[in-house]
Amino acid sequence: MRHDTIERSVNLMMVLIILAVSIGGLVELIPLMYSSEANEPAEGIEVYSPIRLAGRDVYVREGCYNCHSQMVRPFRSETERYGPYTTAGETVYDRPFQFGSKRTGPDLARVGGRYSDAWQRLHLQNPRALVPESTMPTYAWLEDRPVDPELLTAKLETLQFLGDPYTDEQIASAAAEVEGVSEMDALIAYLQGLGTNRRNRR
Ligand code: HEC
Repeated sequence: MRHDTIERSVNLMMVLIILAVSIGGLVELIPLMYSSEANEPAEGIEVYSPIRLAGRDVYVREGCYNCHSQMVRPFRSETERYGPYTTAGETVYDRPFQFGSKRTGPDLARVGGRYSDAWQRLHLQNPRALVPESTMPTYAWLEDRPVDPELLTAKLETLQFLGDPYTDEQIASAAAEVEGVSEMDALIAYLQGLGTNRRNRR
């Protein structure tokens, strides 16, 4: 009977749904906000070096996440293929994280070190030179675009302001570090670092 009353009143139903969803949401969210496992870097996780940070921004700008996730899920089929599953503490320096759910291409969370730099470069220049059936776009033009040192310095300062442990020396020397570095180089440095700072890598 009571169920009938609720189902017949849209307003009452709406209020009760909002109540149920809010309580459910808070119960899931609040513990995570206070859990050090989710807020503090996992063992071996460090901030991105300036070059990798620049590469990460190329990755985000080019929308690589539209085809690649960066989250190994805790299933055997995933860990057998990609390596240990992703934990929250690994991604504390990812703003925003690149978890994603679209996998037109493989997950990249642990791709660092899987191929040589030369492979990555050739693959980005022309994916079909290495994987004939690949549907990945070419990114050869990244080779001609230098990393913008001023923008990088500003980004580092912002991240430091937000609490990422960059030192003033690191920020001061960043511009010199990326002199002559192309966006292609930076992107490769970023890819080669993915997942490599997890100690329990297979
Ligand atoms: C339209 C979808 C699409 C986009 C966008 C895309 N990729 Fe891919 N990517 C693929 C597919 C499909 C494969 C698998 C075939 C291959 O290796 O080329 C792949 C493979 C890869 C691999 C090899 C992974 C492995 O484990 O073998 C890397 C590394 C990679 N992509 C990096 C990138 C980067 C970096 C970007 C952005 C600059 C990007 N991809 C954008 C579809 C895409």
